[in-house]
Amino acid sequence: MTPWHDPALLARLARVRAPWDALTARVVRAAVARFVPPGLLVEVGAGGGQLRAWLPPDRAADTTHTDTSAPFLDVLRADYPDAAVALAPVTALPFADGALAGVLGLCVLDALPDAAAARDEFRRVLRPGGVVLHVLDLATSPGGAFAELIARGEFPLPNFARDPGVLEALTDAQRALLPAADDFDEVLAVPWAAYSRFAGMWAAARHPLAADVLAYADPADAAALDPDALAQRFMHFRNNPDRLRVLYRALLGLTLTARQLGRDWPLRGLSLRAHLRDRLTRTFAGGFEVVFAGPVLAREPAAGENVLRHAGKTVPGAAALPAATAVDEWDGPAAPPTGAWRATTVEVFAARRA
Ligand SMILES: C[S@@+](CC[C@H](N)C(=O)[O-])C[C@H]1O[C@@H](n2cnc3c(N)ncnc32)[C@H](O)[C@@H]1O
Repeated sequence: MTPWHDPALLARLARVRAPWDALTARVVRAAVARFVPPGLLVEVGAGGGQLRAWLPPDRAADTTHTDTSAPFLDVLRADYPDAAVALAPVTALPFADGALAGVLGLCVLDALPDAAAARDEFRRVLRPGGVVLHVLDLATSPGGAFAELIARGEFPLPNFARDPGVLEALTDAQRALLPAADDFDEVLAVPWAAYSRFAGMWAAARHPLAADVLAYADPADAAALDPDALAQRFMHFRNNPDRLRVLYRALLGLTLTARQLGRDWPLRGLSLRAHLRDRLTRTFAGGFEVVFAGPVLAREPAAGENVLRHAGKTVPGAAALPAATAVDEWDGPAAPPTGAWRATTVEVFAARRA
């Protein structure tokens, strides 16, 4: 049994987000109440059943949970013996045409290679006026964005330009050479031609930082441009702070070398969530009306310092909240916290079948 098929491990992993559950649940419940009409629902890519825990009980009772992973669905069944569950891909849902009021998904649409095929199946099973509601509380799966960037000659690098450790080590003149990326941009996109030229130049010259850059992407290796493999490496670096710091240092060195040589090294900041938002908005333009697409913010009083959870990243000592719709606008005003707060953003997408 591989670790990924161990139901006990899966069940533990399914609960990893616990500290943020109350806030995320509030956003989910408010979004369901606001956008999803009454009637039968399907959840796609249900995994271990995290979304069910956040649904109001009457809506959970109307929901069938589907996934292609039998071990995940076993975990869901163990936790929710009354739940309706079906092993089914998003592209072949076990429902008659027009049978459903809603299609729900948590952290799924970003992970699908063909969102248009999923949209067509959602359109088939939804009745007119039925709604697709997708929520994303963690980091966005980067594969889809990477495929699009690579197809147009760009190459995604992790955003090293906003790392406090990197910024502290620079002179003002060096800092001025960095791109003006947003704190919430996870990616800096650079033309592949520029990346392969400079990384290749460092490799040929046996530059002391070359190996650190090549560990992320070696231009001599054709697999460097495989979006799925690259997405896995990107997540691996993001999940290993020590390795990420080493990569940041090397990418910074590459940037300063290119810029000080006066060579073309344009970097474009990109938020994976914003990219997904645009992709879903474009995809669902066919046969749906997009009724909401954007981040929704919930916060509550908390002891100690302000803590923001955004796109899978926890920012202690957060000075400001990102631009987002406040969930209070949907579920009634809550008293604003007077002292320190804990806040989270949830990316919400809702599209109504025409
Ligand atoms: C990132 S996980 C999210 C799981 C769960 N919704 C959660 O947030 O805890 C993505 C889920 O999509 C499922 N999945 C992947 N491809 C699928 C497909 N083509 N059809 C249905 N489910 C799929 C995976 O098995 C996995 O459970």
